[in-house]
Order: sequence, then C-alpha cells, then structure tokens
Amino acid sequence: MSALSLRRSLMLGILAAAAVMAAPAAATAQHAYPDRPITLVVPFAAGGPTDTIARIVAPPMAKALGQPVTIENVTGGGGTTGITQASLAEADGYTIMMGHMGTHGAAPALFRALKYDPAKTFDPIGVAAGTPVVIVARKDFPASDLKGFIAALHDSGPAYSQAHAGVGSVSHSAGMLFDSIVNAKPTFVVYRGTGPAVNDLIAGQVDFLTDQIVNVAPHLQAGTIRAYAIATPERSPVLPGVPTTREAGLPEFEVTAWNAVFAPNGLPKEVGAKLVQALDVALDDPPTRDRLLKLGGKVPQGIDRGPAALQKLVESEVARWTPALRAAVDNQ
Ligand code: MLT
Repeated sequence: MSALSLRRSLMLGILAAAAVMAAPAAATAQHAYPDRPITLVVPFAAGGPTDTIARIVAPPMAKALGQPVTIENVTGGGGTTGITQASLAEADGYTIMMGHMGTHGAAPALFRALKYDPAKTFDPIGVAAGTPVVIVARKDFPASDLKGFIAALHDSGPAYSQAHAGVGSVSHSAGMLFDSIVNAKPTFVVYRGTGPAVNDLIAGQVDFLTDQIVNVAPHLQAGTIRAYAIATPERSPVLPGVPTTREAGLPEFEVTAWNAVFAPNGLPKEVGAKLVQALDVALDDPPTRDRLLKLGGKVPQGIDRGPAALQKLVESEVARWTPALRAAVDNQ
C-alpha cells in the first residue's frame, strides 16, 4: 500500500469513527429538549388578559419542562404583529406563543393580507383558559343599567369613546359586534392591549370597552370601574352581581373568548408532546387553576384543551367570526 492510500484509509477510518460517535450524541441532543430557555410570545401589552394568563401558566410549564419560559411582549396590529413574528421562528419548541380568539379567530375576517392562516401555520398545543367578555365602563358613566347605557350611546353617538386593543383583537371584535347589535357609533381609542386601556378607564380617560373577565374582575371587585353585563348565558361566580346579557335584555350579544398556546408548525413530534404535557401539568396544578378561576377564567378539562380540541376550536371560530365581523364592518 502506498503512503498516500495508507493516509487516505486512515482518514476514512477516523471519519467513520467520528460519525459513529456523533450519532448517539445527536440522538441525545433531540431527547434533551429543552436544554435552554423557551420564549413565550405575548402579542399584547404587559398587564392585560393575554399577558396575565401567560404569566400564570408559564412558571408551572417551566417547572414541568425543566427550563425557564420567558414572556416576550411583541405588540401591535391587534396581536397579529407578535403572532406573525412568532410564526416565522424555527419550529424547534424554543419559541411558542399565546394566541386567542382575536388573533386566531377574528383576524382573518378583518385583515386582507394576514401573513398566517390560523388553521395551518401553527402546531396547536392547547387551550389555556376560556374568558367571558364583560361590558365595562368608567365608574361614573351616567347610566345605571345596560338599557340606560345603550340609550346613552344612542343619544350621544361619537361623544363617547370605546377602547380596544387594535383591529382583530378580542376587545375590538366583540366591541364591533356589540356596537353593530345596539347600533352605537362611538369613537374608537386604540391601545396595544387592554391592560393600558383599563388603566385609562379607571382614570376616566375613556368611557367603555368590552373586555375579557380576567382583566376586569379585580377592578370590578375593587369598584374602580363598573360593569353593565357579562356576555355569557350564566353569571360568573367571581362577579355574582353582574347580570348576563340575557338578563339585561341583550341576548344577541354572547361572547366567550379563549387563550391558547401555539407553536410554529412542523415541531418534532416529541417536542410537541413535551409542550402539550407541560401545559397539561400546568393546568392540572391546583394553585395555577385557582389563580385562573379566581379571575373568572374557565379552565378546560383534559381532552377539551389538547391539540385536537384547539385545532377544531380555531377552525370553528374562524367560520363563526368571519360572517359576523364582515356584517359588523358593513354596519359601521
Ligand atoms: C384583546 O382585546 O384582544 C386583549 O384584551 C388583548 C390584551 O391582552 O391586552
């Protein structure tokens, strides 16, 4: 054997040995997910309902996964900016997002050039919480019940201001539906989330909004804002004094929003399974459930919150909101 061919066969031997050693290392790396912190993108401002739910479920998810789950608030576009950005991240389980009824149900009806398809661009992980919508106003709004509130909106038209969290958000979609049903034409004031919107409601800077219960319940309990009705068939145990829209004479307006964890689509199977399991562990954790329930959230049970249930929910919500919102837009 020549010196050259001896060197070549030695090199091949070394490369083959390296490949054999690398194979188990790669397999181990896959099984080691997660081996670094995970980013949970919240597409609205800190302190609002999406952020609140994310910050309640992130710590127990982190505990189950053995790595920190860090919240990143990426605001704008009624939640579509953050969801679009997160959808473009690598599908490796290190970037996940908290979507909701607006970003994954209502937005397709309102954005002609939405850069994602709620039913196709994501791997659904699971529903974190259902959140009834409440019609709330500044504490000194001059109406004692829903009928009086609607009459005031009729009389004063654009003199009253309605806050929302951007086109396609829950507060915008539910708010538009409400306005269209009661034929109100208030002036919209747009925020990067209903956390800051409710701060302004408390300060009397805006007049009213339709918001998710988890964001308004503590302020209603403290008496710093007032509620005219909750848009669900049953009263909420955390707001027993607030009538339902049926009781208050507006049965056509019933909206329960939802918040759910999604990942960019194409996750490795075992990575998706770990995320699903971590969310399950979080929602079955009694203190975590308690925190969500005390804010008026509804925590779905087992099979009702998994990826298949979430996928079905997204498809049915897009189908439900598209005609309702297009009609509301025409009515504006
Ligand atoms: C919404 O209206 O979609 C939400 O309240 C947004 C938020 O979390 O602030």
